[in-house]
Amino acid sequence: MNCLEARIAKDGVVKEGNVLKVDSFLNHQMDIALMNEIGKEFYERFKDLPINKILTIEASGIAIAYAVAQQFGVPLLFAKKSKSINIAGDTYVAEVESFTHKNKNTVLVSKQFLTKDDHVLIIDDFLANGCALQGLISIVDQAGGTVEGIGIAIEKGFQVGGQIIRNLGYRLESLAIVESMDPATGKVFFREQ
Ligand code: G4P
Repeated sequence: MNCLEARIAKDGVVKEGNVLKVDSFLNHQMDIALMNEIGKEFYERFKDLPINKILTIEASGIAIAYAVAQQFGVPLLFAKKSKSINIAGDTYVAEVESFTHKNKNTVLVSKQFLTKDDHVLIIDDFLANGCALQGLISIVDQAGGTVEGIGIAIEKGFQVGGQIIRNLGYRLESLAIVESMDPATGKVFFREQ
C-alpha cells in the first residue's frame, strides 16, 4: 500500500452513492507533506519524458499540480472554469460535464500559455468519468501541443474514465485506484498495481 492508499484507508470517508470524501487531507484541508510525496512520486513515474509544463483544472487539482511542477521545475498552468458565454477569442475552450455535480462548465486556457511546443503532463485529483480529462486533452490538442502523460491521485476504477483514457492510448498513472467502497463498513478496496 503506497502513502496515498494508506491515507485514504485511514482518513477517507465513504459516502452513499460511491462518493469518497477526502476533505481532511486532499481537497478541502490539504496535507502539504502528502502533496509533496505525491509530487515526488509523479516525478519518478514521468521523469523520462520531455515535460515542460504541468496542466490541471481548478480548483482541487492545483495543489497537487503545484507539487508536481515543483519537482519538474516547470510552470503550472490551470484551466479556469467559467459559466460565462462571453469567451474572448484568445482562449482555448472545452465543455466539461460533471456527472457528480450534475452541471456543465466551460473551461478555458489562454492561448498565450499553451503552444505547439509544449510537452504537457496533465495532473488531477480525481478521475471518475473522465470528462474533465477529456476537456484538458482537447485544450492541449487545440494548441497543437503534446500530451506526454496523465497523473491522477485517485481513480475510481469502477467508473468508465480510466478505461476510456487508456483506450485512447494515453500513458495514465493513478496513485490509488479504488475498486470498490463499502459505505456500511467504510472500507475502501484498491486495485493491485
Ligand atoms: P470526471 O471529471 O472524471 O468526469 O468526473 P465527474 O464529472 O464525475 O466529477 C466531477 C467532480 O467531482 C470533479 O471535481 C471530481 O474531482 C469530483 N469527484 C468525482 N468523484 C468524487 C469522489 O468520489 N469524491 C470526491 N471528493 N470528489 C469526486 P470538480 O468538479 O472538478 O471540483 P473541484 O476540483 O473544483 O473540487
